[in-house]
Amino acid sequence: MVDPAGGEGTRTWEEARQAIRAGRGIVILTGAGVSAESGISTFRDPRDGLWARFRPEELATPEAFRRDPRTVWEWYDLRRRGVLGCEPNPGHRAIARFLLERDDTVVVTQNVDGLHQRALEDEVEAWGQGADEALARAAARILPLHGEILRVRCSRCDYNAAHREPVNSDSKETLPRCPQCGELLRPAVAWFGEMLEERVLERSIEAAASARVCVVAGTSALVHPAASVPQFTLRSGGSLVEVNPEETPLSARARWRFRVGAATALPRLLDP
Ligand code: OAD
Repeated sequence: MVDPAGGEGTRTWEEARQAIRAGRGIVILTGAGVSAESGISTFRDPRDGLWARFRPEELATPEAFRRDPRTVWEWYDLRRRGVLGCEPNPGHRAIARFLLERDDTVVVTQNVDGLHQRALEDEVEAWGQGADEALARAAARILPLHGEILRVRCSRCDYNAAHREPVNSDSKETLPRCPQCGELLRPAVAWFGEMLEERVLERSIEAAASARVCVVAGTSALVHPAASVPQFTLRSGGSLVEVNPEETPLSARARWRFRVGAATALPRLLDP
């Protein structure tokens, strides 16, 4: 039976839903595809992917920042303005509701856009009493493996803070400086050739290793260690659900595959 929403039959959707509902310990690994329907470019789309239009070695490496911090900041600031102009989509919102409903859920995201967090804030907005605690508890289970574009960190000391203000990249002198040591601040994101934050990676792996189901949504599964996270669920006997219009290196190992956009598939899989 061909499913109009692009799945492999309504039984398949129902089976995947039941597996997600039944299993304690759910990990949801997300990539750029989850934010595509919010209007944020993915990286590897051959037409409008960021890495089809820009050269990562000139914009997303520590060497590039040392060589030309002005150009790096100019590009990140453009992306930050783009992110601030976008809204979470139904896929982010379904994940947020699931996080609030189920304290056994961890979201491991490669996305730096903060839309999982904003979707959570939207979902609890009407709650009134108890909203702040629920938000804090759920937000602590979002693990931003590649950092956050709306934060900055110092390129020398341990300063790290939320930062949404526009960055003036007219000259090196106008770039933001660390209030602790005076060194240049940089976007708090992982660049090529850098180690990921150890604690966040450890927590991601621990969560995946104890999950019964790992939902992998909107990632090409080409960048490691993020793409290795679902392997920990598989190794401990859990199953994968993949949401992606395209085939990926993980597809063959996924028990359920849904070849539709995340904004359609995630509410259908995660909502009660
Ligand atoms: P990619 O651009 O590599 O892959 C995006 C994936 O999303 C592709 O497999 C698409 O088929 C899929 N996709 C597109 N639209 C979708 C939709 N509406 N719903 C669901 N899936 C959709 O992005 P990532 O896998 O996130 O790292 O890339 C991983 C990392 O590579 C990024 O975090 C970034 C980049 O270099 C850093 O910057 C450190």
